[in-house]
Amino acid sequence: MRKSDKIQPANGKLGILIPGMGAVATTFVAGVLAVRQSLAKPIGSLTQMGTIRLGKRTEKRIPHIKDFVPLAHLDQLIFGGWDIFPDNMYEAAVHAGVLEKKLLDQLKPELEAIKPMTAVFDANYVKRLNGVFIKQGHTKMDLAEQLRKDIQSFKTDNQLDRLVMIWCGSTEVYIKAAAVHQTIDAFENGLKTNDPEISPSMIYAYAAIMEYVPFANGAPNLTVDIPAIQELAEKNRVPISGKDFKTGQTLIKTIIAPGLKARMLGLSGWFSTNILGNRDGEVLDEPGSFKSKEVSKLGALEYILQPDVYPDLYKDFYHKIRINYYPPRGDAKEAWDNIDIFGWLGYPMQIKVDFLCRDSILAAPLVLDLALFMDLAARAGMFGIQEWLSFYFKSPMVAKELYPEHDLFIQLKKLKNTLRYMMGEELITHLGIEYYPQD
Ligand SMILES: NC(=O)c1ccc[n+]([C@@H]2O[C@H](COP(=O)([O-])OP(=O)(O)OC[C@H]3O[C@@H](n4cnc5c(N)ncnc54)[C@H](O)[C@@H]3O)[C@@H](O)[C@H]2O)c1
Repeated sequence: MRKSDKIQPANGKLGILIPGMGAVATTFVAGVLAVRQSLAKPIGSLTQMGTIRLGKRTEKRIPHIKDFVPLAHLDQLIFGGWDIFPDNMYEAAVHAGVLEKKLLDQLKPELEAIKPMTAVFDANYVKRLNGVFIKQGHTKMDLAEQLRKDIQSFKTDNQLDRLVMIWCGSTEVYIKAAAVHQTIDAFENGLKTNDPEISPSMIYAYAAIMEYVPFANGAPNLTVDIPAIQELAEKNRVPISGKDFKTGQTLIKTIIAPGLKARMLGLSGWFSTNILGNRDGEVLDEPGSFKSKEVSKLGALEYILQPDVYPDLYKDFYHKIRINYYPPRGDAKEAWDNIDIFGWLGYPMQIKVDFLCRDSILAAPLVLDLALFMDLAARAGMFGIQEWLSFYFKSPMVAKELYPEHDLFIQLKKLKNTLRYMMGEELITHLGIEYYPQD
């Protein structure tokens, strides 16, 4: 990583390319347009609202993150992407039903101007959807090349300086890394021979990295979690991150669980259930896609609670997750948690959480932050897995020999310390002893 004087400035325009222009993507884009026009505030976005403490507490240096690190400004962002339906962003946002039509109508000309490009799609990977707006090609390599051309044309047509790609497409069915995913050569050969184990999201990621475009994975798909893509990202010096935006229930889980562990309170069971009725809910109703989501969601508690280190507190705790498709709720999900804990002398207690959340409202600011931070990472010369962005993901990517960090507060410290490190500021340990008399 380079230090502050070497970070390239955020000059010119930054293109944000989004495979999957559904609820999350339209809520993100419409939101940025609304903020630009001062119609609303970017609540939930660390890059726009967050501050960072620098130096000693007595120095009172607490700039906004956006004034501390050189991030692209909202006015510099240009949006584009792909979908399997031809709806423009206005139509897609109305269909998603997340934002009020009154707000969308105020942004209508700009939203209508954002039209998807034809998608790379394979119904074996998303069984509940039937794509109508999709690319044709003899091989997966042909499709990758078409995506690369899309990226190049989008860049020249819009006179962009840089690009990032954020996957906001549907959740693909669960697959494990296979032989074709192990090396760049095997993967490229698989693209040429139409290997069925190469999913559409991997083709987008490959195209992005071949075009030196940073790639973040907002869904629980395997996508960039494979050695071939990671090797390619390192070879081409492109940042990658993932996976699965940490919103709703898992966000709450990674807020509560570290607190229980901090107080050495035990856990015997955590039952989580959800009802949601958007298109994401419909896709997740299919067992293969649900499995991807389930695996991504299950890891958090195991890693935070460390049953091996604390067997008296967490050995054999029961963790169950359910997602139920319930159309009347649309995007306004309801997530219940029943948490069976125990305290002093093993006495049982219960915590009940009923989170009436809005999935895309929670996800949209994460898309913005990831786009800006991934672009910053690229300009700072960082490449490969961006572990410091674990804060944003349910299932954070880490180097092979590491376990992921799920505790939201450790993730935030990691993120902020990375920003301090990038800018040549002292890292903050929270030791605090220096404020008191010492012998
Ligand atoms: N909303 C959240 O809180 C949240 C949190 C974590 C992860 N996610 C993930 O983000 C993704 C998007 O969620 P959403 O609520 O916007 O879903 P959505 O169904 O509204 O949008 C997904 C879009 O992707 C399109 N699509 C599917 N396959 C595609 C392909 N191969 N190429 C291009 N487009 C494709 C679909 O047509 C759809 O428009 C999902 O995978 C979801 O699991 C969402």
